[in-house]
Amino acid sequence: MTASTERTPALEVDDLEISFGARPVVKGVSFQLAPGEIMALVGESGSGKSLLAHAIAGILTPAARVSASRMEFGGVDLAGGSPRARASLRGREIGVVFQNPRAALNPSRTIGRQIADVLREHRGLAGARLTEAVHGALADVRIPEPEMRARAYPGELSGGMCQRVMIAIALAGNPSLLIADEPTTGLDTTTQAAILDLMLGHARERRMATLFITHDLALARAYAERIVVMHAGQIVEEAPTESLFAAPRHPYAAALIGATPADATEVSDLKGIAGSLPDLDGVVPACRFAGRCDRVIARCRDEGPQMVFDAGRHGTACWVPR
Ligand SMILES: Nc1ncnc2c1ncn2[C@@H]1O[C@H](COP(=O)(O)OP(=O)(O)O)[C@@H](O)[C@H]1O
Ligand SMILES: [Mg+2]
Repeated sequence: MTASTERTPALEVDDLEISFGARPVVKGVSFQLAPGEIMALVGESGSGKSLLAHAIAGILTPAARVSASRMEFGGVDLAGGSPRARASLRGREIGVVFQNPRAALNPSRTIGRQIADVLREHRGLAGARLTEAVHGALADVRIPEPEMRARAYPGELSGGMCQRVMIAIALAGNPSLLIADEPTTGLDTTTQAAILDLMLGHARERRMATLFITHDLALARAYAERIVVMHAGQIVEEAPTESLFAAPRHPYAAALIGATPADATEVSDLKGIAGSLPDLDGVVPACRFAGRCDRVIARCRDEGPQMVFDAGRHGTACWVPR
């Protein structure tokens, strides 16, 4: 593979907006994700991370209205396009892992059967080869005694084990895009690290484009090459991980990093920032951080800054960057 095909983005999102009624929650979101790249999306609760993930995965609630200049995965249009083309991508080309795995699994079917369902559908396996593949999939996610565990129901497994099963299901179609939305929230720190090592290890090995959504900056730093910082539905900064930590430019990104202890091993849940997300039903300033920002100027309220990137692919959307 040449360097140029290597850089062709797997996922391209350009000027994405997601609204409920007259209220745009996600606004002007653009980014690209290359094959083999792990990109973290961080932002406090309510900033629109899950809406974005759901829009890409094609599982957004029908109440939401989506528009974008471009939202493409491997050349397939995810915003317009035929519902059939989009549906065939999901599960096969796009793997998703969400928070709360127990709720995502069917409580009345064994985990072996649930994994078999996806392997049958995506790989066309049957009979002894299917059974073998189910055990292989469980072994791949380090579930001990796969033959025995395949017969367990979700309720008989721990949260961590259920998330391993969800990862096995997400990987079963051998997708080229993996979306993980807060995949370890609610798990203890040790299990969290084991699950992320496992999931992102597979993602690296198989050169998947990975969107890793987290509200924990320390985890983003540990696992992602690049970080996108979202505030109230807008991307305020995007940078290679070390560049972001060395010199954040947007006041929000700087505040987040300032609030994260350098040796954080505990969840740092982005609560250390003064003020709250703007009320989207009121008068929303063009830069949605204006109301919380100590560097705010009049222009911020009227004219939304565009992302400006430097040669090192470190970009920020701010009229008065640091
Ligand atoms: N079904 C919905 N109806 C109306 N508003 C919604 C709906 N889902 C999400 N929102 C709005 O979008 C915001 C962002 O939600 P979400 O993407 O879940 O945030 P995050 O994942 O970053 O915590 C919510 O705070 C809420 O205001
Ligand atoms: Mg969420």
